Amino acid sequence: MNSEQTKKTDREHVIYSWSVQGKVNPIAIDRAEGIYMYTPEGKRITDFISGLICVNVGHRHPHVLKAMREQMEKLTYISPSFTSEAKAKLCSMIAEVTPGDLDYVFLCNGGSDANENAIKTARWFTGRHKIYSAWVSYHGATAGAITLTGDPRRWPAEPGIPGVVKYFGPYPYRCPFGSEDPEECAKRTLNVLKTQIMIDGPKTIAAIFMESIVGTNGIIIPPKSYVKGIKEICEDNGILLVVDEVMAGWGRTGKWFGIEHFDVVPDIMTTAKGLTSGYVQLGAMIWNKKIWDYFYDKPFASGLTYTGHTLACAAGIANIEIYKNEKLVEKTEELGKYFTERLNCLKDKHPSIGDVRNMGLWACIELVADRKTKAPIAGYNDCNCNISSEITKRCLDMGLYTYCKWDFIFLAPPLVITKQQLDESIDVIDKALDFPDTIVRK
Ligand SMILES: Cc1ncc(COP(=O)(O)O)c(C=O)c1O
Repeated sequence: MNSEQTKKTDREHVIYSWSVQGKVNPIAIDRAEGIYMYTPEGKRITDFISGLICVNVGHRHPHVLKAMREQMEKLTYISPSFTSEAKAKLCSMIAEVTPGDLDYVFLCNGGSDANENAIKTARWFTGRHKIYSAWVSYHGATAGAITLTGDPRRWPAEPGIPGVVKYFGPYPYRCPFGSEDPEECAKRTLNVLKTQIMIDGPKTIAAIFMESIVGTNGIIIPPKSYVKGIKEICEDNGILLVVDEVMAGWGRTGKWFGIEHFDVVPDIMTTAKGLTSGYVQLGAMIWNKKIWDYFYDKPFASGLTYTGHTLACAAGIANIEIYKNEKLVEKTEELGKYFTERLNCLKDKHPSIGDVRNMGLWACIELVADRKTKAPIAGYNDCNCNISSEITKRCLDMGLYTYCKWDFIFLAPPLVITKQQLDESIDVIDKALDFPDTIVRK
């Protein structure tokens, strides 16, 4: 089918996520390879956002395809109560790369499901019911995960599950407690959280959830002192620290997991996306030894039909092998430095850029109407003023797809991107930025 035929059939039957159905106008993609996607007519589009920031090893990687084919010939699925070489091997490979004693792996269908299981674990382990999560966060779309989520995607799902309490994390560019200095912002944020916990009752709190680096709400990188401070609050009060590595994990930031930048080991880690690079859906919740010991003689009452799906496990193994064999984590750290340089040049050139933030090959350009006052150009949750859709359109016209929302342009190519491909892509972003420059307050 050509694009028009595909779209016609699609629009008669397919329900789209997070969208007004009558306004959806999808691009048909026929095949993809490396960092490129192709329409049925052969138009090439650079995937500068790795699907939904998940296709870390690139599209159609031969090593993953081979591993999946071989697995499919033998076994694609068995009941979660059986084991297979693929499941056992994948979990041991995950344990090997996760920090500290995060060695015990519960396989899930994706990131939301991993967070649901982390909520259950924290409540059963501590016997407490409250779960803390940040206002500026996204943790998924299932009942518990969307309640954890701070951003407006939560609003239609309210009131959500009981017992979830919100706190402010640090946002050094727009400190919620009025400091211009990142360290001072971290200090004030921690002090407010400590007071909040004191008043709320520390013994009622099972867990604090956080994204190691806030993802779809602006790639917000916390100061190290903040993450260490959160860990201390948890330890002092018998609260579990759950770190969501769904987006930050698997080399994206130039380390295996984002939390490694802060020298903190959480009690529970959740992950998905780059675990299989989206070849088959798979997530994981990973426990430390303390939690494993607790559940050793008690039932862990959770699981789904596809828990530990064999084909997904084979895709996961192949992905981890690629991260290692192609040194993708190290390569991302190195190329990330160059990415920072290029992003800073864009900032010098374009008055509409208020801030650029990146770790490895994961960046956000934050647009402003006025650099001095930091007045936003579109504003929080502003989907109506068409700035992000216009930037997306201009990039697409030049053959590049990336994700823009509110005041943010997100950049996250597959980690297999070359320096030359990165340069070509940033040149496109550079040109697209001429548009917001025209509406900056003079
Ligand atoms: C930080 C974070 N947590 C959880 C999720 C939810 O993962 P999934 O869509 O696989 O359920 C996402 C998805 O983007 C995410 O970015």
